[in-house]
Amino acid sequence: MPLPPEFLSELQARNDVEDVIGSYVNLKRRGRNLVGLCPFHAEKTASFTVYPETASFYCFGCTAGGDVVTFIKRAENLDYMEAVRLLASRSGMAVPEDESYQHLATAKNRILECNRTAARFYYQCLYSKYGTQALAYLKGRGMTDETIKKFGLGFAPPGWQNLIDYMKTKGVEQEELATADLAIKGQKGSYYDKFRNRILFPIIDLRGNVIGFGGRVMDDTMPKYVNTADTLVFKKSDHLYAMNLAKNEAKDSLILAEGYMDVIAMHQAGFPTAVAALGTAFTTSHAHLMTRYVKQVILAGDTDEAGQKAVGRTINILEEAGLDVRVITLTGAKDPDEYIQKYGADRFKLLLEGAVNDVEFRLGNIRQKHNIDTPDGRIAFLNEAAGVLASLKNPIERDVYASKLAADLEVKKDSILLQVNNLIKKKVKTTQKKAMRQLSNDTGGFSDKLNPDKSKHLRAAKAEEGILALILCNAALTDFVFGRLQPDDFITGLHKKIYTAMADLAAEKKQISLTALSIALNADEIARLSGIIAAGAQQKNTKEEAADLIAVIKTEREKENAKLGSEEEIERYLKKIAEQKNRGI
Ligand code: CTP
Ligand code: MN
Repeated sequence: MPLPPEFLSELQARNDVEDVIGSYVNLKRRGRNLVGLCPFHAEKTASFTVYPETASFYCFGCTAGGDVVTFIKRAENLDYMEAVRLLASRSGMAVPEDESYQHLATAKNRILECNRTAARFYYQCLYSKYGTQALAYLKGRGMTDETIKKFGLGFAPPGWQNLIDYMKTKGVEQEELATADLAIKGQKGSYYDKFRNRILFPIIDLRGNVIGFGGRVMDDTMPKYVNTADTLVFKKSDHLYAMNLAKNEAKDSLILAEGYMDVIAMHQAGFPTAVAALGTAFTTSHAHLMTRYVKQVILAGDTDEAGQKAVGRTINILEEAGLDVRVITLTGAKDPDEYIQKYGADRFKLLLEGAVNDVEFRLGNIRQKHNIDTPDGRIAFLNEAAGVLASLKNPIERDVYASKLAADLEVKKDSILLQVNNLIKKKVKTTQKKAMRQLSNDTGGFSDKLNPDKSKHLRAAKAEEGILALILCNAALTDFVFGRLQPDDFITGLHKKIYTAMADLAAEKKQISLTALSIALNADEIARLSGIIAAGAQQKNTKEEAADLIAVIKTEREKENAKLGSEEEIERYLKKIAEQKNRGI
C-alpha cells in the first residue's frame, strides 16, 4: 500500500522546499529560483537550483534532482519512508503507516537491537575470564581501556553457541539472530555463532546504531577478518568505519586509512578524524558521504604494493567527487598504526602537516619507476610526468611543477611545457568529442535508458517535455491541458508514463506535484522529471504555449499513426501476395 496522495501533498505543502533545502544549503535568490552549492557533489560554482514553483530541485552538475523527500533522502542518507517520517515529524504530521512498511521497520529495529545486545555481550566477554588473552592482545597493540570502550571493542569466545545461548536468555531466537548475520544456519539445519574466537569491531552508523561487525583473528589464521554480510540494516559500501566519531571532529579534512586498527590507533594518538572503508574497495558513495563534511581528504594508505595501488584508485574517486586530496607516505612502517607505534604521534602529525598533494604523490610514484640517471629513463619519466601536469586545470600550478621538474632534471622548462600543452590540446579534442557525444545523447536521447524512444521521436519528445514541465509549473492550466491531451497522444514511453500518472491525479482532483508523483515513479524517473522541469524553467508556461505544445504533440501523434497505418497496409499487401503465391497464382 503506497502512501495516499493527499498525505503526500500535505507533506509537501507543510515542508516548504526553500525552507527545507535552505537549512542544508546556503541559497541565493536568482529570479524566480534559488541557487547554491550542490550538497551532493563538491563544486565551486553553484549549479544546484531550487524551483519553489514546482517544489523541486535539480543540479546541473551531477543531475541529482527531485522533491523535498528526495532531497532529505539523499542529504540524510535515509530510505524513502525514513525521509517521509522525518519530514512528517518536522511538520507535526502523522504518517499513515502501511503494513509492509511496519514489518520492515520492525524487522530493522529488531536487527539493530540484536546487534546492540551482541555488542554488549562481546564487550563483557572481553573483560571476563574468557577474554584474558584477547584483552592482552589489544593491550599488546597499544590500546587503552578508554579506547576499547570508545570503540566498543569486544571478544567472541571460542565455541559454537555462546551468543546463541546468551541471546536465548534475552528472548531472541537463533532464527532471528541469523537475520542479523550473527548466527549461521548450517547444512544440517542447526545454527551456530558467526563470530568465534575473534576480536570484534562494532560498526556504528551516523545515528549511533550498531549495524554490523568486523571480527579479527588474534594470530595468523585465515581469513584475518570475518565481516557482517549485507543485512536489512547494513550495506558495507555505504558506510565508513568511525565516521560516527569523525564527523563531529572534522572541520577541514578527514584522514582515510585502510584498516580498523589504523583508524583506532590514529584516534587514540589524537587524530580523531580518521575513517576507513569496511574491508571493501573505496566507492563513489563513500566519497559523497565525505563531501557532506569536508573539502579535503588525507590518504594514509598501507605502504605495500596493494595499498599504494588502492591509494591511486582512491585519489581518482575522491577527485571526481571534487575533494581536495592529500597523500602521506609512511616511510619505515607498513601502515599508520605501525608508524605511530614506532615513531610516535608527534612525528605522525608532522607527516600530516607535510602531506603532499596528489600531484606530488603521483610524480613521486612515476619517478620511482624510472632510472633517471640514464637519458632513456629521463625521457620516459618526463613523458609520463607531462601526462600528470596535463591533467591539472590551473596553468599556474602546471608552471610551478614544470619549473620544479626542469630544475630537478636539468632540462628546459619550456620543452616540458611544450609537451604538456600538446597533451592538453589532444585532451581538449577528446573531451570536446565526448561532450558532443554527451550532448547529442542528452538532446537526441541515444542510449537514453530511461526513455529509449526519445532518439527516434525528438520533436515529439521535446514537446512532451515542455508540456510535462508546464503542468508542474502552472497548475491553473491543468484542466486546459488534460481536456485536450490524452496519454495515448504521447509517443515516448517514459513521458507517457509520467503524463498518465499526472492524469490519474488530475482525474481525482489531486494536486500534481513531484511528491505526489513519486508514488507512481521511481527515483530515477523523478530525477529525470526534475531535469525536465529545470529545462522548462525557461518556458513562459502560458496558455498559448500550452496550446502550441499540444498542437506539436498531436501532429506528431498523427504522423505516427499514419506511419503505423501504412505499415499495416504494407503488411496486409505482403500477406496477400504470399497467399496468392501459395495458391499458385
Ligand atoms: N579486511 C577484510 N577482510 C580481510 C582482510 C582485510 O575485511 N580478510 C579489511 C578490514 O576492514 C581491515 C582492512 O581490510 O581492517 C585492512 O586490512 P589489513 O591491513 O590486513 O588489516 P588491519 O586492520 O590493518 O589489521 P592489522 O594492522 O592488525 O594487520
Ligand atoms: Mn593494516
